[in-house]
Amino acid sequence: MTSALGKLRLGVNIDHVATVRNARGGDTPDPLRAAKMAEAAGADGITAHLREDRRHISDADIEGLMDVLSVPLNFEMAATDEMQSIALRHKPHAVCIVPEKREERTTEGGLEVAREENRLAHFIAPLRDAGCRVSIFIAADKRQIEAAHRIGAQVIELHSGAYCDAHHEGRFDDRDRELEAMREMSAFAHDLGLEVHVGHGLTYETVAPVAAFPEVMELNIGHFLIGEAIFLGLDPAIREMRRLMDDARA
Ligand code: PXP
Repeated sequence: MTSALGKLRLGVNIDHVATVRNARGGDTPDPLRAAKMAEAAGADGITAHLREDRRHISDADIEGLMDVLSVPLNFEMAATDEMQSIALRHKPHAVCIVPEKREERTTEGGLEVAREENRLAHFIAPLRDAGCRVSIFIAADKRQIEAAHRIGAQVIELHSGAYCDAHHEGRFDDRDRELEAMREMSAFAHDLGLEVHVGHGLTYETVAPVAAFPEVMELNIGHFLIGEAIFLGLDPAIREMRRLMDDARA
């Protein structure tokens, strides 16, 4: 087994602080305050998804995050002209291109890169030119990884949702198959020269096997941590995730 390639980074996704705020339409809880707290608790980056329907993060949140953060912002967005111009205005450290459907509750699958290679290559070029690290959110599928590499992405983020769902639903054969696919595809992507991230649905129960993949450099985790913060507080919830990641890495 390859030894780990470096410290595993934790990106904390704060979308669902905004979901709770928006349920009442006021200013609290404030996602920027959560982001600063996450930084203090050891988050290596903050992730926020500006959805087309603005159901959680708002344009003002992105502007605020760009102003207040000391750690990098990973700006998740769909491949639309509107989002591209917002990203080019703010020039966040990283841009993660995700598929987006209005009717979905969350990002349900990875991006179909292979069928849209030409359009996506043109779409990400100006983002790269502006200095953003471009990441593509995809399933653990060789065809998609090769396409992400061909279009010039520097990073892929593997969708861990199917693995986490299978674990929490007790479908352990499916879970193990999903995990094995992510393990193989992390190594495959790394050999192509891509940086590998993983995210979606990760919890205290599911994080360790993924954190142990030596090629994985970053995990992006949101919903579970914001939920856990209700019981533990945000700082201890993040520190516990960090501990589990570090233990698995060691
Ligand atoms: N990574 C990406 C690309 C995502 O779209 C999301 C969810 O928006 C996450 C990570 C975080 O997923 P979760 O909120 O389930 O931890």
